[in-house]
Amino acid sequence: MPFGLVSAWNKRRRSKSQDHTDPWVYKPVEHWKLEDQTSQPIKRRRGSSVFTLKEMEEATCFFSEENLLGKGGFGKVYRGTLRSGEVVAIKKMELPPFKEAEGELEFRVEVDILSRLDHPNLVSLIGYCADGKHRFLVYEYMRNGNLQDHLNGLVETRMDWPLRLKVALGAAKGLAFLHSSSDVGIPIVHRDFKSTNILLDANFEAKISDFGLAKLMPEGQETYITARVLGTFGYFDPEYTSTGKLTLQSDVYAFGVVLLELLTGRRAVEINQGPIDQNLVLQVRHLLNGQKKLRKVIDPELSRCSYTIESIVMFANLASRCVRVESSERPSMAECVKELHIIIYTNSKGISMPMHKLRMV
Ligand SMILES: Nc1ncnc2c1ncn2[C@@H]1O[C@H](COP(=O)(O)OP(=O)(O)OP(=O)(O)O)[C@@H](O)[C@H]1O
Ligand SMILES: [Mg+2]
Repeated sequence: MPFGLVSAWNKRRRSKSQDHTDPWVYKPVEHWKLEDQTSQPIKRRRGSSVFTLKEMEEATCFFSEENLLGKGGFGKVYRGTLRSGEVVAIKKMELPPFKEAEGELEFRVEVDILSRLDHPNLVSLIGYCADGKHRFLVYEYMRNGNLQDHLNGLVETRMDWPLRLKVALGAAKGLAFLHSSSDVGIPIVHRDFKSTNILLDANFEAKISDFGLAKLMPEGQETYITARVLGTFGYFDPEYTSTGKLTLQSDVYAFGVVLLELLTGRRAVEINQGPIDQNLVLQVRHLLNGQKKLRKVIDPELSRCSYTIESIVMFANLASRCVRVESSERPSMAECVKELHIIIYTNSKGISMPMHKLRMV
């Protein structure tokens, strides 16, 4: 259970340091009321601000449609302005009664894990609201929304190749940090890595979001066996789905799917297609390892002068290794970060050369 592990970690951390962060607990209603009356800004620790329902309503103008940013499986996400003037994103839990217990668990895991992590490629949790039955998560506001909307043309900005490489590197660094056990002392599997959970700030810096399904993997427990496979269709590690064995490499598979989305501009799952064409990995896997075949999969929206074929070949090769069926054959996230650095260097060197010197497909 994630809570068992989180509290084990809490104990370990407390014994290590005096300057510890207390385990996360709901504060009593009286405490929220007291906070609600103070007009003074409250000194805040990361992820630890506790908000009242009234504050959430005020921040979003009573959850007005103009403030709606998007909708996911957990509920709606609104843009909001806190009393301090800070602009934030507020996720409101809206679940049917039979899913509330599951939602409550995701809510707690999200707060418990995310409030302890600090990395430029992970979205920051500012605080939460647990007022009666109401649940809200308050995050830093990510001006450029999620990656999928950019790739699928739902947003005006056209993403050229260097920008896609920057996003891939940012996301890789975020995942490598989770897997490296920094901050928490235990490696973490994200378990729901996908292009809608890669958010982009004003400078298109990628930040990973949604830790509600995350799982701590203590030393000696490199595999977690579960009877219930959780995550998103299209990003599932085939080994995890067939055996129930969750490993850090399950995130690497999902990362490979996102690399393919960046390369092709296609969706991980295209529901209007037949069974093979529905799944991006099945659609393109056999086309990734030959320059000629690769031409068929490059996103036609990509401007030709923004990429070199060398960098595309290297990128496709990395993606194809990430989505291998055997999890042991996939690279680690640290290796992905290194390779992406080289790919970025190769591309920037190539595009600064005159066009006639570039090798064409
Ligand atoms: N911190 C944020 N800043 C700006 N926009 C955000 C933020 N968090 C979420 N959003 C927007 O709200 C949308 C819905 O997010 P949410 O995480 O609820 O669902 P999802 O990831 O799209 O899908 P699912 O819940 O099915 O996994 C996102 O796609 C994104 O565009
Ligand atoms: Mg999300």
